[in-house]
Amino acid sequence: MNGSQRLLTVALALGAVGLAGMGLAGAVFAQPQAGAQSGLVFRNTITGEAMDLTEGKPGGRDTPAVKTFFQTGKNIYIDDKSCLRNGESLYLTSCSGCHGHLAEGKVGPGLNDNYWTYPANTEDTGLFATLWGGANGMMGPHNEDLNPDEMLQVIAWIRHLYTGPVKDALWLNDEQKKNYTPFKEGQHFAKDAPGQCKPLAD
Ligand code: HEC
Repeated sequence: MNGSQRLLTVALALGAVGLAGMGLAGAVFAQPQAGAQSGLVFRNTITGEAMDLTEGKPGGRDTPAVKTFFQTGKNIYIDDKSCLRNGESLYLTSCSGCHGHLAEGKVGPGLNDNYWTYPANTEDTGLFATLWGGANGMMGPHNEDLNPDEMLQVIAWIRHLYTGPVKDALWLNDEQKKNYTPFKEGQHFAKDAPGQCKPLAD
């Protein structure tokens, strides 16, 4: 190899590294978009605008439940006792002041019956969008106090509080409808209830 050949080889090698680097950087930047494009698009309950799910409280975005939910709209926490236990506690902190301990309604509407101001809330994807982006007036966005995984836990608890006719529980599949028993006051789940959700930090 003479001098200029050597230079050329070095330049080619550097070029290859540079291209690989760009490819990597491109992949990193493209990730959130790719996720949103290949998964479901969640739209603000009031404005219909697509929402950016990377904003808000960090964490809780890469759990199996959230990944499944973003792809299919199915909330696999719905009948998991460990998640219901967490969901109750998160609901009591963030929601019950306005919606009531049993979601029976206070300044905010009841969430435990079959009447919905926004019919999209009969699907867990609609409920998620309402929690994430808020609705009108005092119903602000909750993506600063709850991350997506915690929202799925709250949604599971709200569905658990439902006392309306089972035929209107559109969030349940046929199998879940068969096994459904209406919520009775005082039904809580123990700290050591087994399941997918770790106990919340005290
Ligand atoms: C400061 C009071 C307040 C808090 C806190 C609050 N909400 Fe609301 N919520 C409201 C009001 C008022 C409405 C009615 C808004 C509307 O109709 O657009 C509402 C509406 C809703 C709706 C739409 C119901 C329907 O019939 O379609 C859902 C679902 C909901 N809230 C869930 C929650 C959850 C879950 C939390 C806790 C993460 C929460 N809210 C926290 C006041 C509140």
